[in-house]
Amino acid sequence: MTRYNFTSLPDRLATNAIKWQKTREDKDLLPLWIADMDFQVFPEMTAALTQFAKRSVFGYDAPADSLFEAIIDWEQNQHGVEVAREDIVLIEGAVPAISTVVQAFTEEGDAVLINTPVYPPFARSVKLNKRTLVTNSLVVEDGRFAIDFDQLERDIVDNSVKLYIFCNPHNPGGRVWDMAELKRLGEICRQHGVIMVSDEIHQDLTLWGKRHQSFYTVDRSFAEFAIILASATKTFNIAGTKNSFVLIKNPDLRKAFTDRQLANNQHEISNLGFVATEVALREGLPWLTELKVVLEDNISDLLGYFAKELPDLRVMRPEATYLLWLDFSAYGLKHSEVARRLEEEANVQLNDGLTFGREGKCCFRLNAAAPKALIMEAAARIAGAFNNERT
Ligand SMILES: Cc1ncc(COP(=O)(O)O)c(C=O)c1O
Repeated sequence: MTRYNFTSLPDRLATNAIKWQKTREDKDLLPLWIADMDFQVFPEMTAALTQFAKRSVFGYDAPADSLFEAIIDWEQNQHGVEVAREDIVLIEGAVPAISTVVQAFTEEGDAVLINTPVYPPFARSVKLNKRTLVTNSLVVEDGRFAIDFDQLERDIVDNSVKLYIFCNPHNPGGRVWDMAELKRLGEICRQHGVIMVSDEIHQDLTLWGKRHQSFYTVDRSFAEFAIILASATKTFNIAGTKNSFVLIKNPDLRKAFTDRQLANNQHEISNLGFVATEVALREGLPWLTELKVVLEDNISDLLGYFAKELPDLRVMRPEATYLLWLDFSAYGLKHSEVARRLEEEANVQLNDGLTFGREGKCCFRLNAAAPKALIMEAAARIAGAFNNERT
């Protein structure tokens, strides 16, 4: 018996959801792209935001002590990360924090490393800030992404990399990097004087009992050169409330970050977000626990369906996130033809793999966080567009 509603589709156009915009022109289109969920928040969240609205005053507010306490407790209880209040910097989003980090820790022309394929704003933030983008390709091993550490070290040394923007858990592959991998990355960064930014926004969305390892739990000394990006927004489907937090233990890095944040006038953030984040971290665990069961079930059904109906489609089984990386290479089609079939024949909207890096050729990302009926309908349409194409 479930306590929460994960079966009805909310009216996403009522709030002008970006994900659903194209359905204004095409009612039959199924949008399974941008990473938010077609689920309602839990009732305590709605109640807290209603109470906030009823106060009828929306001026500049300072974040409450209780918000910081909620973050400290969540990090400790869920992830074993010990943070003090002064280690926490609030900012409106992890993506804005990435730009701040790039500006704070590098100069124009400096080399910044990412592992591709990866969440597109990483590359965009590096390039638009006129830094040199260095991409290290992830490799596929046993059906999941892995890091070629020797190549990564060469990429760092050959390009004199200053900053590394890392994604854990990984979007789009759903990898939860393990302790040994993180330790090796940290040691490489320390050896070559690289500042590590670990984007851990998907930290709470681990599946099938997999445990997220924060970069701060690997080795205490990694805090000298590492900062963590996190938030409640991805986990609890409140991304529009624009609230996230950066954990920075090294005071010099923290000062460089907060100076730049001030220079960008990014230091004042949404008071609605303060409320949403606090109630999420304090009261959201039962909902999150149920959500994970729903996501595991959705993903298992999709994997089973695709294995049966489209055996040549390679689908990465995520260890975290609700995102599935679909690789259509075995069909021997051009990327543009795969895109056309998905768009015109299946009439589904997925994220184009090439926006995550060149490794995304013939790949597309599917968001499975929607009521089961919707995602299975999308899967059936995708199968219909490809199922006679085995090579
Ligand atoms: C890895 C990663 N970082 C950041 C974000 C978005 O962060 P924010 O909304 O806090 O800017 C996403 C959203 O999908 C993401 O996948």
